[in-house]
Amino acid sequence: MSNALVGIGPTPVEVPSVVHDLADRLRSGATVVPVWRNEYGGLTVRLETECGSQRSYLKWVPDGAPCPDPLAEADRLLWAASFTPVPRVLDAGRDAQGSWLLTAAVEVRGEIASSAIEPRWHDRAERSAIAIGIGLRRFHDALPTDTCPFVRTAETRVAALTAELGTAERATTAAALGTPPPVDRPVVCHGDATVPNTLLDRDGRFVAHVDVGDLGVADRWSDIAVTTRSVTRRYGPGLEPLVLTAYGVAPDRERTAYYRALWDAEESVRVRQGVPDVGGARAAALRQRRRAS
Ligand SMILES: Nc1ncnc2c1ncn2[C@@H]1O[C@H](COP(=O)(O)OP(=O)(O)OP(=O)(O)O)[C@@H](O)[C@H]1O
Ligand SMILES: [Mg+2]
Repeated sequence: MSNALVGIGPTPVEVPSVVHDLADRLRSGATVVPVWRNEYGGLTVRLETECGSQRSYLKWVPDGAPCPDPLAEADRLLWAASFTPVPRVLDAGRDAQGSWLLTAAVEVRGEIASSAIEPRWHDRAERSAIAIGIGLRRFHDALPTDTCPFVRTAETRVAALTAELGTAERATTAAALGTPPPVDRPVVCHGDATVPNTLLDRDGRFVAHVDVGDLGVADRWSDIAVTTRSVTRRYGPGLEPLVLTAYGVAPDRERTAYYRALWDAEESVRVRQGVPDVGGARAAALRQRRRAS
């Protein structure tokens, strides 16, 4: 969900004891391999057992963190899994410290699919950008809007966003965003269709999406606008036309600008809400921000 720098990098990630304890409870004896830290103190680790089978991913989010609740993500994964490739839910829950989601590793011929954010895909950015565009189009074509129980239109997002603001700021934010553009095509949107949330096989072909906690029916441009910007931010400029062509749509400046501005407004509220001080999450997020800056 975040567009800030996170995760995979050369600096070792400390796994808080709350995550080790949870991992032990869910998969006794498994090795805990840190994979990704989001900027709200959420941490994803891979759990590997001795025999090498049953690899899984555990996402833990501290209580009160302003990012999608793993339990809400579990509901969306369970619904979406019959239509599109997403991780299989193994467990989800909540306790006083936070919420978690355990999923089976997405594998292709015995190999774990890799996130398009991994360094090897930067060297093949054009191919990866195309795979990301193809993957997003498949997602939008596959999921049925009429039976989707989740809604995330511009109107619902603006209402949720402005509810977090004081009166004066509410008025300025609403005025700055303006009226949402007319819907081009309603689809089930991923909600965070970024480079890190797209998984590729060893040849760079699209395999699956992860991180669907914000999935819901909306105009397709609410995803496309975020996907193209993520490709520019993660791989560099010049690739957006490839994503759009692979998706099969002409550029739409007005909708792109609107949905990026809406995303940024939501992000600034989340950043202000900050990282809850649970299990060392706040200290870890601060260290990460310092490293990234
Ligand atoms: N089941 C899975 N199979 C393979 N890889 C996975 C799986 N679940 C998570 N991952 C990897 O872990 C990373 C982090 O997971 P996820 O995107 O759900 O975390 P997040 O904290 O919500 O991310 P964000 O910073 O985008 O909010 C993914 O980008 C992906 O590389
Ligand atoms: Mg993610």
